[in-house]
Amino acid sequence: MRIFFALWPPPETARALGRWALDAQRQAECKVTDEAKIHLTLAFLGEADHEKAIRAARQVAARVHTLPLEQARYWRENRIVWAGPRETPAALKALHESLSMALYREQFILERRPFTAHVTLIRKARAATLPPLPAVEWPVDQFSLVRSAGSSYQVLQRFPL
Ligand code: 2AM
Repeated sequence: MRIFFALWPPPETARALGRWALDAQRQAECKVTDEAKIHLTLAFLGEADHEKAIRAARQVAARVHTLPLEQARYWRENRIVWAGPRETPAALKALHESLSMALYREQFILERRPFTAHVTLIRKARAATLPPLPAVEWPVDQFSLVRSAGSSYQVLQRFPL
């Protein structure tokens, strides 16, 4: 099964971001992320052993913080529109680092590209002027191990910070 670690927003935050995305792009071919699937990926593991991933997650030490959603951008290379902080908060960098180190210790091979905190809201998007993001709260007090099965996501386990 394909698994990944991610942060999930509170439902009202997901609702506001989902509405924003619907408003931002209305072309038929755009794929707006379902409200229930809006997340920020910390580590994508692909086909991997979830027991091993859980062992790694239990070693993570990180602080509770909040995720500012300050900008919405279009990435031409993969045609997505995402929202995220202007700069990855130090506490989120530390969480990502702690998780990556724990995953290395459990022998996972991770992508080497630098971590850019982003929440994908629209796929197959076109370059367009984006409306201002809603003011939303995204408290980060846990992270989740999630299974991706076809078009649905299933949270396997949550890890409080
Ligand atoms: P994205 O939001 O930038 O598309 C589940 O698929 C999550 O893992 C997505 O949020 C996706 O990021 C991320 N991800 C990272 N690397 C991936 C890969 N090689 N294949 C699929 N998803 C990947």
